[in-house]
Amino acid sequence: MEGFQNSAIVVLLSVIIFLSINHSEQLQSSQGQTLLRIPRLLSNPSVLSTWNSSTDFCSIDPTLSVTVVCYEDTITQLHIIGNKGSSLLPKNFSMESFVTTLVALPTLKVLTLSSLGLWGSLPGKIARLSSLEILNISANFLYDTIPGELSSLSTLQSLALDDNMFSGELPLWLGSLPVLSVLSLKKNMFNGTLPNSLSNLENLRVLSLSHNYFRGEVPDFSRLTNLQVLELEDNDLGTKFPQLGNKLVTLVLSKNKFRDGLPAELSSYYQLERVDLSNNNFVGPFPPSLLALPSVTYLNVASNKFTGMLFENQSCSDQLKFVDLSFNLLTGHLPKCLHPKKTVVSDGNCLETVDDRSQNPVSFCHNEALAVGVIPQLKSREGRSSKTAIIALGVIGGVVGAVALVALVFLLVRKVNTPKAIKKHPTRLILEDASAGYPSKLLQDARYISQTMRLGALDLPAYRSFSLEEIEEATNNFESSAFIGESSHGQMYKGRLKDGSCVVIRCLKMKRSYSTQTFMHQIELISKLRHRHLASALGHCFECYLDDSSVSRIFLLFEHVSNGNLRSWVAERHARQKLNWTQRLAAAIGVAKGMQFLHTGIVPGVYSNNLKITDVQLDQNLVAKISSYNLPLLAEITGQFPSAQAGRLTSAGSKDPARANQEAKADIYDFGIILLEIIVGRPLQSRNEVDAMKDQLQAAIASDAATRRSMVDRAVQRGSSIQSVKTTMEICMRCLNKNPVDRPSVEDVLWNLQFAAQSQSNEVSPSSPGQFNHQLRLSIL
Ligand SMILES: *[C@@H]1O[C@H](CO)[C@@H](O)[C@H](O)[C@H]1NC(C)=O
Ligand SMILES: *[C@@H]1O[C@H](CO)[C@@H](O)[C@H](O)[C@H]1NC(C)=O
Ligand SMILES: *[C@@H]1O[C@H](CO)[C@@H](O)[C@H](O)[C@H]1NC(C)=O
Ligand SMILES: *[C@@H]1O[C@H](CO)[C@@H](O)[C@H](O)[C@H]1NC(C)=O
Ligand SMILES: *[C@@H]1O[C@H](CO)[C@@H](O)[C@H](O)[C@H]1NC(C)=O
Repeated sequence: MEGFQNSAIVVLLSVIIFLSINHSEQLQSSQGQTLLRIPRLLSNPSVLSTWNSSTDFCSIDPTLSVTVVCYEDTITQLHIIGNKGSSLLPKNFSMESFVTTLVALPTLKVLTLSSLGLWGSLPGKIARLSSLEILNISANFLYDTIPGELSSLSTLQSLALDDNMFSGELPLWLGSLPVLSVLSLKKNMFNGTLPNSLSNLENLRVLSLSHNYFRGEVPDFSRLTNLQVLELEDNDLGTKFPQLGNKLVTLVLSKNKFRDGLPAELSSYYQLERVDLSNNNFVGPFPPSLLALPSVTYLNVASNKFTGMLFENQSCSDQLKFVDLSFNLLTGHLPKCLHPKKTVVSDGNCLETVDDRSQNPVSFCHNEALAVGVIPQLKSREGRSSKTAIIALGVIGGVVGAVALVALVFLLVRKVNTPKAIKKHPTRLILEDASAGYPSKLLQDARYISQTMRLGALDLPAYRSFSLEEIEEATNNFESSAFIGESSHGQMYKGRLKDGSCVVIRCLKMKRSYSTQTFMHQIELISKLRHRHLASALGHCFECYLDDSSVSRIFLLFEHVSNGNLRSWVAERHARQKLNWTQRLAAAIGVAKGMQFLHTGIVPGVYSNNLKITDVQLDQNLVAKISSYNLPLLAEITGQFPSAQAGRLTSAGSKDPARANQEAKADIYDFGIILLEIIVGRPLQSRNEVDAMKDQLQAAIASDAATRRSMVDRAVQRGSSIQSVKTTMEICMRCLNKNPVDRPSVEDVLWNLQFAAQSQSNEVSPSSPGQFNHQLRLSIL
């Protein structure tokens, strides 16, 4: 008992010390009162459920959903991000009262209110937050026009109203916000022409107006020398190609009415990485120099009327990953440099290619080029070519690269406020990058530490895309000795990369025709599945059909952990080779942490992982890693799951919290079975065995210490502390509760296991070096 109290005190003290070092600010009580009114006004969203009158707002840990940042005794940043796809707040919600409450926090500089179901018009009085620098109210249901009062926000740097129902024309005064650098109004119902005043925004770095109803010519942006991202997709803009500064990195003009030829200067935009001119009416010669832009990775000019002859000896940029020239009037030969490691789509032209079926006769292009007529859609293609050689590092490679870069930006900037971890392609890089431009004062205020930082550096290479050649080399061309298993989704191979590291390669075969873009979101999620206690994702590779570049197979590469599975270490070896009690607890904690990461470390969380002790692998240092978990890709591919499962997979992005919680509790139960086996040190192969063992354990818990200990694997009985065994058994029983609601949260599980480990190291091995002990205390914090 004394051990128990001692360690409890140690833990408590550490917590207190930690809190007092890091969170000494005391919030003005009036500001605290204001925050406390927010949950009720928003109909008590689950993300705010932990706020109550004793919450110390300046010291709550920032999460992906909620972050409060204080400076001295006032609040400077408030981020509340609800669950994706949340529905309208109820009828009694009032945007007016909500904003009236918010403006009682006049020190706010950064305000994010995303995916909360807010509806109504945006009250002008929000401008009373006169220090606002960043305002982000995306993914809600706000309508009407942007209130004129916002024009008084002279410090506003970033205005994001994406994915709402705002309408009307863009106000002229937007052009007079002196320091505006990000204007993002995607997916609204704005109409009218773009005001010329926008061309005064010299600090503008990101202008994102995609998916609205804008029409008319784009103003002259040649003075916007800082503009890096211009996205105008899916409007009615045109016909003249916009005048732009040459610092542009992303230019998206697709799905508009641009017609006139491309300006020669375009070839001098040396920073251009992503160019999408597809689905317009562009005419005139296609400048092959676009292929050779030094930074270009993505070039899409599909479905226009570009003319001209291509030569095999033309040169292209090394960076180029994806080129779509399809459905134009091009003749000649595809440049050699476009092969082989790039995705190239060229159907519907008059090129001389291997697969002539996808091309028109040259006369067609000539006639069409001469005529100013309509080009008949030429989508009919005969059967699928069996050549499947082209690898799409493609767009996705770019995205993943961007993820890595974003992480880098996070590291450099360190204390940037953004709780939003990863966002939609393709502007993410720049949007995040723009945060590097926050004034340094703001950065000092921010105490947010990104998830990346908290997780600590993984000793792994960065996530990346692989080429098919690399995969073939690693598996010796899928040699049978490399084959390690098969599931309904495809085969698994073991492979060795050039650098000598071992990987597991999952090969998923497509049953239907999808473009690589379809998987962008899933790949983004997968690229985040990296944690000390997971067999982490290392990369992917697309194999595409040559004719329509749809995906034929996806390869996913994971860390290969090779020191035996957890069952072999606790239940199958000779007694002396088994893990001791301390090591077992460490392994259990590892699994729980891996599970916690899957549930809460990434957004959206990954649930229903069907955790099994044989799918937990130990590495050379006996660090436990979950090697099989629910991949957010599988349902997409097969589309043939029983509905419950399919739901769990496909709904990953828009899961309602109650359901997520239910699925989390299923994982907790599976974890309970693993823990049970760790305790008793015997393989539990069937549900009956588990139930029987559970009953025995239940009885033992109620009994005395000796009985309890007799339940523990003989091999480790002597080395285990009484308190530690008791705590472990108790939490195990709670995990195995029949009623999901009564099962503990993963945090609760972790706390108890860490407590058990703490009791163990305090009581049993006072002479052993305090290192383990120390680490535990740290990890509890
Ligand atoms: C709206 O009504 C619900 C119950 O009908 C209540 O829980 C909620 O607090 C109300 N919200 C406001 C802002 O009054
Ligand atoms: C406030 O919430 C915390 C946990 O979030 C809880 O421990 C505490 O009891 C609550 N206090 C009140 C007064 O409800
Ligand atoms: C823009 O939309 C509003 C309603 O949303 C409408 O009243 C107005 O006429 C439209 N303007 C133009 C130029 O289409
Ligand atoms: C490329 O080839 C064409 C003819 O095939 C030739 O006219 C042209 O000069 C060549 N260009 C270069 C840069 O070699
Ligand atoms: C606004 O916030 C949402 C939610 O965090 C985020 O996804 C989005 O990228 C933000 N927009 C900008 C322009 O920063």
